[in-house]
Amino acid sequence: MKAVVAGAAGGIGQPLSLLLKACPLVDHLSLYDVVNTPGVTADLSHISSIAKIDGYLPADDGMKKALTGADIVIIPAGIPRKPGMTRDDLFKINAGIVRGLIEGVAEHCPDAFVLVISNPVNSTVPIAAEVLTAAGNFNAKKLFGVTTLDVVRAETFVQAITGTKDPAQTVIPVIGGHSGETIVPLFSQAKPSVDIPKEKLDELTKRVQQGGDEVVKAKDGAGSATLSMAYAGYRFAERVMQAAKGKSGIVESTFVYLPGVEGGDAIAKETGCNYFSVPVELGKEGAVKAHNIIGSANEYEKKLLQTCYGELKGNIEKGIDFVKNPP
Ligand code: NAD
Ligand code: LMR
Repeated sequence: MKAVVAGAAGGIGQPLSLLLKACPLVDHLSLYDVVNTPGVTADLSHISSIAKIDGYLPADDGMKKALTGADIVIIPAGIPRKPGMTRDDLFKINAGIVRGLIEGVAEHCPDAFVLVISNPVNSTVPIAAEVLTAAGNFNAKKLFGVTTLDVVRAETFVQAITGTKDPAQTVIPVIGGHSGETIVPLFSQAKPSVDIPKEKLDELTKRVQQGGDEVVKAKDGAGSATLSMAYAGYRFAERVMQAAKGKSGIVESTFVYLPGVEGGDAIAKETGCNYFSVPVELGKEGAVKAHNIIGSANEYEKKLLQTCYGELKGNIEKGIDFVKNPP
């Protein structure tokens, strides 16, 4: 299993690369960034784990060297938010960064699983799909927007109410997109079920929707979530790799192109969105089945979903348009 981190020298990239270097599922880890990759690579190379490691800058065909032979490419490249910014404010810079990296994927490792972390995820995933489609290499089963941090936050924040010992034992689907009101936690679908007092539900839901803002505000100009994101990105990557190696029964919420995944058409029809985060069953080929749990949402959650659809549709169209009609 060759894993690549693009944006490896950044706030997310470094701890994510550390976790991947220590992961027994990874045989070869390649790091790519426009700055500082040699230092990060040298540092991680002293860790006595099985993964062989190398790192590249853009010079001397660095991107090609990093991506060639990759089985999984994880992309946290791009600028993060500062207080007062929305994720959509990052589009101008990050859209081009993601487009360039996906062009590299299409050329050097078209069969790899691609996990997009760079914001705005609601637009960068459609950008990635359009670039891969233009290159004749789009496989929707292998392209994922990483929304695991929303799930991790929901698991953590609900613990204050449930008091369970291990928050990760409560599975909470978080669906929709990855920005503000497009993030829709479905606490009614938690397993095991959770009993949330009515007066606390709104506050809890808003905290999940604005979890990113909480960290941006606390970091006060020094960026957004990096360590919790590295944890979440690693958790999702590990599950994709476990499924690729034959482990069955893995289901994770992730932002996918619905018409390309079994079960996705009905969800696309119901939501009016071709891209949506839903619980997805993972298999050897990637996303093997999208689970439609929208019908099981309660009235409160259905209202949240109605708000989600409009904003998400606009974000998706913006990403598609960026590739089809370049500025
Ligand atoms: P950062 O600025 O610390 O790191 C980004 C890295 O990307 C830098 O090292 C930079 O040199 C590198 N980079 C820039 N252009 C590149 C290119 N063309 N090729 C390769 N590398 C390139 O930022 P960060 O805090 O690590 O955040 C990265 C991105 O992840 C941001 O867009 C942020 O909004 C997003 N993010 C997403 C989630 C999520 O839940 N999906 C969570 C947190 C952050
Ligand atoms: C997050 O949810 O923490 C990330 O999307 C980063 C951000 O800008 O909030």
